[in-house]
Amino acid sequence: MTKISSKMAMELESNYGAHNYHPLPVVLSKGEGVYVWDPEGNRYFDFLSAYSAVNQGHCHPKIINALKEQAEILTLTSRAFYNDCLGEYEKFITEYFGFEMVLPMNTGAEGVETALKLARKWGYDKKGIPQDKAKIVACSGNFHGRTIAIISMSTDPDCFKGYGPKAEGFGIVEYDNLEALEEAIKDPNVAGFIVEPIQGEAGVYVPSEGYLTKAKALCEKYNVLFIADEVQSGLSRTGKLLACDHEGVKPDVLILGKALSGGVLPISAVLSSKEIMLCIKPGEHGSTFGGFPLACKVGIASLEVLRDEKLAENAEKLGKIFRSELENINHPMIELVRGKGLLNAVVVKPKEGKTAWDVCVALKDNGLLAKPTHDHIIRFAPPLVMTEAQIRECMAIIKKTFDEF
Ligand SMILES: Cc1ncc(COP(=O)(O)O)c(C=O)c1O
Repeated sequence: MTKISSKMAMELESNYGAHNYHPLPVVLSKGEGVYVWDPEGNRYFDFLSAYSAVNQGHCHPKIINALKEQAEILTLTSRAFYNDCLGEYEKFITEYFGFEMVLPMNTGAEGVETALKLARKWGYDKKGIPQDKAKIVACSGNFHGRTIAIISMSTDPDCFKGYGPKAEGFGIVEYDNLEALEEAIKDPNVAGFIVEPIQGEAGVYVPSEGYLTKAKALCEKYNVLFIADEVQSGLSRTGKLLACDHEGVKPDVLILGKALSGGVLPISAVLSSKEIMLCIKPGEHGSTFGGFPLACKVGIASLEVLRDEKLAENAEKLGKIFRSELENINHPMIELVRGKGLLNAVVVKPKEGKTAWDVCVALKDNGLLAKPTHDHIIRFAPPLVMTEAQIRECMAIIKKTFDEF
């Protein structure tokens, strides 16, 4: 196919694709490390990293090689048969994260669905919850994906309004509120508490220190599974391998996605103990692609890159520079800066009708791509392979952009 212009690419998407996204007006045709390019050859720093799926940087050579090598040998077998990659991957990923078993899926939402089903099944088989009475408690402001069950836990009308009726069996407690959590999980029919250690889509909300530790202790007290959705906060993004590691909390059920493939394939995983995982029996859950050979090789390579290139340490170091430099920018539109590692957000105060969207368009014009979340918040989440010199260059772009307002 011949190369098309940005204008043509946008027209095609607009005419033939569902309008379920509202993209920034930029077309990307190439990526390498922290950079992406448009068809006209303009280069940008990517500060979204595909919603943190590209933590290892665009087209990381080690991950791409793993993909290419396996693609020529065997891609998909389904789980009707064994394959010679899955076991190796399962051993690798469980040892890597210190869990006994893994259930491989594809998208983050499928990982979440799997965890919800697992918690319900455990609730019936082990906790003794009466049939069809199991409840899952989630947090206000959560984002766990887009399926019917998941949006039934959502408190954001953009996610659920017009898509009812909601699925049953979900309760909501305020995020970062331990009393509310205790009150909710006292109910003996609660099987699980699902939480994002840092709420990404909501606008990078970091809970109070100690929240995760105490929430986990409450879950233990009431025999409720602590389910951590680290699809966005995990995999070195916040300066530790998992955001839960900041408090030394080990979830009963851990959900991973996005950067598990370095942005190369949709790969997600649910990790847990044998006791919990074996509640799901053959034939009760799965996916044609879940754990396919290509994903197994890409998954191992992606996790090796995080470890070998010390990306958590880099995120921790650069995150500190990012927040301190941003806090030093004295601009009336910058209301608040928050985050951990390289998952950060700026709360933008509109000025003369100009909003976070206008700031993002101006950032794009100055060579840096970020996207608003919830109208007034800009998330800044570059690939973790960024260097100190590059982040300083980016800070200059951000400062210059705000100065234009
Ligand atoms: C915390 C969290 N969970 C789940 C998901 C859903 O992942 P996916 O879009 O791959 O289905 C997301 C996506 O942004 C997320 O941030």
